[in-house]
Amino acid sequence: MIKLHDLEFEPFISEQEINKVIDQLSEQLNRDFGSKTPLFIGVLNGSFMFASEIIKRFNSDCEISFVKLGSYDGTESTGEVKTLLGLNQDLKGRTVILLEDIVDTGNTLVEIDKILKQAEVKEYKVVSLFFKPEAYKKSVPVDYIGMEIPNKFIVGYGLDYDGLGRNLTQVYKRKE
Ligand code: IMP
Ligand code: MG
Repeated sequence: MIKLHDLEFEPFISEQEINKVIDQLSEQLNRDFGSKTPLFIGVLNGSFMFASEIIKRFNSDCEISFVKLGSYDGTESTGEVKTLLGLNQDLKGRTVILLEDIVDTGNTLVEIDKILKQAEVKEYKVVSLFFKPEAYKKSVPVDYIGMEIPNKFIVGYGLDYDGLGRNLTQVYKRKE
C-alpha cells in the first residue's frame, strides 16, 4: 500500500500486465499504420510513459508531438477542459494517432476531436491505455483500448493524484 498526499492506494495492475497490453496495442498499430507515416500525438501530462512505450514499439516511419489539456482537480473531473499547450504543426492531410493514458468522462477527447477536425487531418484514431466505460458519456469513438477498468480513481504509470504518483511503474487504485 502507498500514500500520496492524504489518500491511500493499493496495487491494482502490475507492470507485467501493462506491458502485455502495450505489446498487444503495438501489434495492432504496426499492422494498421505501418505504411502510413502517422503522427502520434500524446496528451500530456499523463500519457508520457505510455507514449514512449508505444513509440519504441512502432517499427516504421512516424512522428510524435504533444498537446496538453487539463480538466482534473484532485480526484474529480471539473468538466471544463483547458488547452494548456497547443499544436504548432500543420496537421492537414495527416494520419494522426492520439495517445491517451485514460479516457474517463470523455471531455478531453471531445476537445481534441474539435482541434483535429479544425486542423483538417486526413484521419485520426484514438488509442487509450485505460478506459472507464461507466464514466464515458460521449460519442467520440475510442478505437483502441488497452484495458477497461471500473469507475475508480487510479494512479501510476503516468497518472497522478494532484501531481504525485506519475513515476510509479505499476497502477494503484484508491483504497476504499
Ligand atoms: P476526461 O476528460 O474526463 O476523459 O479525463 C481525461 C483525463 O483526466 C485523463 O487524461 C487523465 O489525465 C485524467 N484522469 C481521468 N481519470 C483518472 C484517474 O483515475 N486517475 C488519474 N487521472 C485521471
Ligand atoms: Mg491525460
